[in-house]
Amino acid sequence: MAILLKFLHQVPSLLVILWLLSSSCSAKETGEGQQYPPSSHIVSISSLLPYTVCNRSSKVSSIGSLELVHKYGPCSELNKQGETTSTPSLSEILHEDQARVDSINSRRRRSMMKSDTNQELIRKTKLPFGYDVSIGTGNFYVKVDIGTPRQSVYVVLDTGSDITWIQCKPCSVKCFKQVGPIFNPSKSSSYSTFPCDSSRCNMLSSSSPPHEQLCKLEECAYSSLYGDGSYTNGLFVEDKLTFTSANHKSKEIDYLFGCGHNNSAVGSIGVGIMGLSRALTSFVYQTDTLFKKYFSYCLPSDYSSTGYIIFGKTNNNHIKFTPIPTTPQQSQFYDVVITGISVAGKKLPIKSSVFGKRGRGAIVDSGTVITRLQPEAYAALRSAFRKEMSHYHYKMASPVKFLDTCYDLSSHKTVEIPKVSFFFKGGVELELDVKGTVVPATDSGHVVCFAFAPNGGNAAGAILGNIMQRTVQVVYDVEGRRVGFGPAACT
Ligand SMILES: *[C@@H]1O[C@H](CO)[C@@H](O)[C@H](O)[C@H]1NC(C)=O
Ligand SMILES: *[C@@H]1O[C@H](CO)[C@@H](O)[C@H](O)[C@H]1NC(C)=O
Repeated sequence: MAILLKFLHQVPSLLVILWLLSSSCSAKETGEGQQYPPSSHIVSISSLLPYTVCNRSSKVSSIGSLELVHKYGPCSELNKQGETTSTPSLSEILHEDQARVDSINSRRRRSMMKSDTNQELIRKTKLPFGYDVSIGTGNFYVKVDIGTPRQSVYVVLDTGSDITWIQCKPCSVKCFKQVGPIFNPSKSSSYSTFPCDSSRCNMLSSSSPPHEQLCKLEECAYSSLYGDGSYTNGLFVEDKLTFTSANHKSKEIDYLFGCGHNNSAVGSIGVGIMGLSRALTSFVYQTDTLFKKYFSYCLPSDYSSTGYIIFGKTNNNHIKFTPIPTTPQQSQFYDVVITGISVAGKKLPIKSSVFGKRGRGAIVDSGTVITRLQPEAYAALRSAFRKEMSHYHYKMASPVKFLDTCYDLSSHKTVEIPKVSFFFKGGVELELDVKGTVVPATDSGHVVCFAFAPNGGNAAGAILGNIMQRTVQVVYDVEGRRVGFGPAACT
């Protein structure tokens, strides 16, 4: 008020007084906090630690909604069965994660070549069939019911895989140790095989990218080889897949999947795969009549909580959608266009060509853990993040493999982490959760690392991984060619 009076004395104009009064009133109403949203997360260090107690959310109720469990977390059946003696360390997880990123890079390079007019180049690069994107590690699984009567099996959700496969009895050649019982086709009255010259078997080769159409004693067979050396071989078969709601209503659908009798897993996958890519053989296309090529999920904030996946349309008023670009045409991935990144509310000076160069766009992937960015984009993001963090005088810690920006927070009770947002074509902003920004590097959680890395290699684009997607509702609308993001939605 004193300032105001002084001002009144100097400028005795009624209009100015009125203007000053009105603006000072409106500033009071909104308040400073709301005018300038906080540019950092302030959290207790203990909230960044991994929890050891399972904290279930209860979102799952309708037909087509399934609970998502992290395979290494305390809610996992894998842990209950004592199959894993300990959760892998961050550096073990990063090792498997890199295998996945390498395989995605090579898959994307290949699909780029296919849409290339340079036929000579395509002929020279003999592309093996049935070579799949590596399973990677930090994955979420769901329980599905297959056969008549129903047998429950666990499958890892994978937006990068084209087909669904499970281990099947008899494990005539080889099966790996898995969570829960192995599917037994001879106990299902609705199980059927089909010949290799049938249209159903043809789906394997008409899928984009194609799988090799194989024959085993005239029956349709499949084979998938993963970049990390894991594989699954067996028959491509049909059986009922049943979806049940909390009030015991159910719907079933005839579903084509790989029934593996010769399987080997390098990592501790422990379950089969549900292929959720944009290829024709994927779950998305096969369940079109029920779910209209539409699904959404929420990955929990950490491994001790559960998330959900819902197949079919849900209320999407709060979702902001970004279009899936029409190039590359052959992509089975969920491509999106990044337009910018901000740290602590400040947009980074990254040229749009860095995100937009041909073949260097971005994909959203459920199976990659750490988000990879174009090297130029990562350099700008890291430098802005480090600069903001330097205000708080945290001690830098040694890098963990390719995570090069780590902090030792052991002498702090609460910590401040700058907010990071990604922007996508269509004016979409995705603000990351604090646990989508940094990951604990040790079991004590006192060291955290910035959860981003550069994607090296020739013509490698960005891969938006599952840490970054934590607590976000991610919507995949394949028919509408768009991917959507909504705020905190896991509970
Ligand atoms: C359990 O989950 C709920 C909902 O996500 C959350 O509010 C609560 O803080 C969680 N509790 C623990 C101990 O993580
Ligand atoms: C099992 O699969 C592997 C990898 O594809 C293959 O090398 C091996 O020959 C198969 N074994 C049999 C008995 O088919």
